[in-house]
Amino acid sequence: MSSPHIAVYGATGHTGRLVAAELRARGKDVILSGRDAGALKALSEELGGAPVHQATLDDPAALRELAGQANVLIHCAGPFTHTGEPVATAAVEAGCHYVDHALEQHHTKWIFDTLQEPARRKGITMVTAMSFYGGTGDLLAGAVAEGLTGIDRVITAYAVSGWRLTTGAKQTAELLFADTRRITYTDGEQHVGYVEPRNAVFPFPPPLGPRTMIAPVPFSEVVTVPRHVRTRHVEAQLTAHTFEEEQAFTSEHVDAATRAGSRFTVATQVITADGGSAGQVSGHDLWRLSALASVEAAVRLAGGHGRPGVYSPAEAFAPGPFLRDLERLGLFTLTLPGKAES
Ligand SMILES: NC(=O)c1ccc[n+]([C@@H]2O[C@H](COP(=O)([O-])OP(=O)(O)OC[C@H]3O[C@@H](n4cnc5c(N)ncnc54)[C@H](OP(=O)(O)O)[C@@H]3O)[C@@H](O)[C@H]2O)c1
Repeated sequence: MSSPHIAVYGATGHTGRLVAAELRARGKDVILSGRDAGALKALSEELGGAPVHQATLDDPAALRELAGQANVLIHCAGPFTHTGEPVATAAVEAGCHYVDHALEQHHTKWIFDTLQEPARRKGITMVTAMSFYGGTGDLLAGAVAEGLTGIDRVITAYAVSGWRLTTGAKQTAELLFADTRRITYTDGEQHVGYVEPRNAVFPFPPPLGPRTMIAPVPFSEVVTVPRHVRTRHVEAQLTAHTFEEEQAFTSEHVDAATRAGSRFTVATQVITADGGSAGQVSGHDLWRLSALASVEAAVRLAGGHGRPGVYSPAEAFAPGPFLRDLERLGLFTLTLPGKAES
């Protein structure tokens, strides 16, 4: 293979299209993949003729063949509750580096529990939850916690407005909130079971100020953050306002420009006995942030900057510098404690 090839599974979805277009704009060799041959052909024409590989989830040989042609596979098809296992398994079997957009706690737990050893044996790097929800919190937690000891808890609060959910995001949200077997991390241990939602107020710095939050939300941070931050408690929260917006769940067919209008602040508090520290990102278009975070990860892996195994975003890449690189792409404004930059 002459130059690294990056395969995009779920290329015809909103996230997949952003990922594929960004890779093409950077002059990368892209393989467009998914279940719908017609939609893939149309996308290929739009992108100037990128190669296409159709593969359905119930065809492991076709998925392996896809991964066998690529150096890195970016998995953008969801919900990952349904799509995660076959695509990630194919990547390991074919010895192809892997990056995904999963938010689902159970997928994240499964990939660490099941594919860690196989990934090491194959010498590939797998980075899960490299996206806006889950991934930003994991990176911020890693950057803010750097150098701190005696950490009691890590809270990541997402303030999001203008989020117009795609079909995949809507299905994912419905599955997550209906799940009574949630994963939590309290008293230094992972638990699985029903969690009573509670009212919380998170003190975002101005101009947002204190906001009413859904707490906890079942995001992947509770699985990933304890892997690299020694703490007793991890929690993710989301502004209640996000789902109260009338159009959040009724905008599956809006255009990409409308979707780009979302605004976000993600703030992480790392609490210790003497106070602790905090950091945040603030910007717009969470879809673009998701897509470019996965592209940045894939380009690093294609360039040989990975270690064999399964990792969270902050385990795979130094979190402060990785967030600064995303800031340089114009994705957000980043505020970190001074020590987190190295
Ligand atoms: N954590 C985050 O912040 C974040 C950010 C962005 C996306 N995501 C996740 O990424 C996933 C995609 O999101 P999206 O916004 O791009 O959704 P979308 O626009 O609705 O696209 C969904 C994609 O998944 C494919 N797909 C769905 N079920 C499939 C199946 N059974 N077999 C093969 N392909 C299947 C679809 O294929 P067809 O085109 O053939 O229907 C389409 O390509 C969702 O799970 C979402 O939660 C997470």
